[in-house]
Amino acid sequence: NLYEKGVKTMYENGIEHVPLKYVLPASERPNVSSPEADLVDIHLPVIDFAHLQGPNRRHALESLAHACEHFGFFQLVNHGIAEEVTERMVNVGKRFFEMPLSEREKYMTADMNAPVRYGTSFNQNRDGVFCWRDFLKLVCHPLPELLPHWPSSPIDLRESAENYAEETRALYMVLVEAIVESLGLNQREESIMKDGSQLMVVNCYPPCPQPDLTVGMPPHSDYGFLTLLLQDDVDGLQILHKHRWLTVRPIPGSFVVNVGDHLEIFSNGRYKSVLHRVLVNSTNCRISVASLLSFPFTSTVRPAACLITPTNPRRYKDTDFATFLDFIKSSDSKNKNFLHTRT
Ligand code: SIN
Ligand code: FE2
Repeated sequence: NLYEKGVKTMYENGIEHVPLKYVLPASERPNVSSPEADLVDIHLPVIDFAHLQGPNRRHALESLAHACEHFGFFQLVNHGIAEEVTERMVNVGKRFFEMPLSEREKYMTADMNAPVRYGTSFNQNRDGVFCWRDFLKLVCHPLPELLPHWPSSPIDLRESAENYAEETRALYMVLVEAIVESLGLNQREESIMKDGSQLMVVNCYPPCPQPDLTVGMPPHSDYGFLTLLLQDDVDGLQILHKHRWLTVRPIPGSFVVNVGDHLEIFSNGRYKSVLHRVLVNSTNCRISVASLLSFPFTSTVRPAACLITPTNPRRYKDTDFATFLDFIKSSDSKNKNFLHTRT
C-alpha cells in the first residue's frame, strides 16, 4: 500500500486526491477556508528570554505565568541559541526526508521505545484515519548512548542534531528554573529535570492536494513537561484558545514553547496543557522540530507538594511514568489522555 510508505512518497508520486485512509469524517475536518475558524485578532504571548536573565526578571516571570495559565503556549525570542544551530537542524531534517525511501525506511519500527523511529501519521499502528505527516523521532538522553543509533545519513545529521539537542537541553534547564520560580516554589539546588528524558521529533508535512479533508496532526496535548518547537516559515500550527483555533504565526528565530501534561500536573492544574493541531496546505512543504523534555522515566508524575493547599486541593493522582505512557498509548489522541490521572 502506497500510504504505508508515508505522505512524502505519495506527494512525490503526484497523487491528486487524498486516499480514503486519510479522509477525516466531516465533523472532524479543519475548515481551512473559513476565516472565522481563525482567531486573527489574538496573538500568542511573546517572552523575551533575555528579560528573564536581567533586572526585569520579576516582570518577565509574571508574563511567563500569565502565558502558561491562559494560553499554555508562548513564543520565546532572544533565547541565545545561535541561528546557525537551529538553521542547520531544520536543514538537515529537511534533507533527511529528501533521501530515497529505502534510506528512510531502515528506521521504520513498531517499537515505540526504539532510539530512532521513522514513520507516518500520528501513530500508524493504531490510527483508524491517517494524518498528513511523516516524522523522524530521535531519543536524546543520555546522548552518548543514543548517538550511535541515530541515522548516519545525511552525513551531518548526527553532528547537527547532537548540537541542537545539547543546546536545547541547556535552554530547558534555565526555562524550567524560571517556571518553577513563576509558580512561587523555592529554587532547589538541583533541577527537578536534571535527569529528565528528552526526545526530538522532526516533522515533515508535504503539500497536500486536498488540505480540507485531512490534517497534519490531529488535536492532542503533549505528554511531557515542556515542548520547544522550531518551525520553518510555513503556517500550520493551531492551538485551542477560548474554544477556537488560533494560528501560531512563525516568528523567525524564535521557539514556540508549550506546557505539557507533566507540567499541568506538577503545577496542580494552574498551568494548562493545551490541545493543538497542525493544518496542511496545497503549496508548501512544512518542516518542524519538536523537542520534548519530560520527567525522568523512573520518576513519579505528581503535583508539587507546596501547590496542594486547603484552598487548592490535589487535582491529580500520583502516577509512575510507565503507567502514564500506557494511558497515552491506549487512548484516543483527541483527548487529553492524562485526565485519567485526575482525582
Ligand atoms: C507537535 O504538535 O508536536 C508538532 C507541531 C508542529 O509541527 O507545529
Ligand atoms: Fe504536540
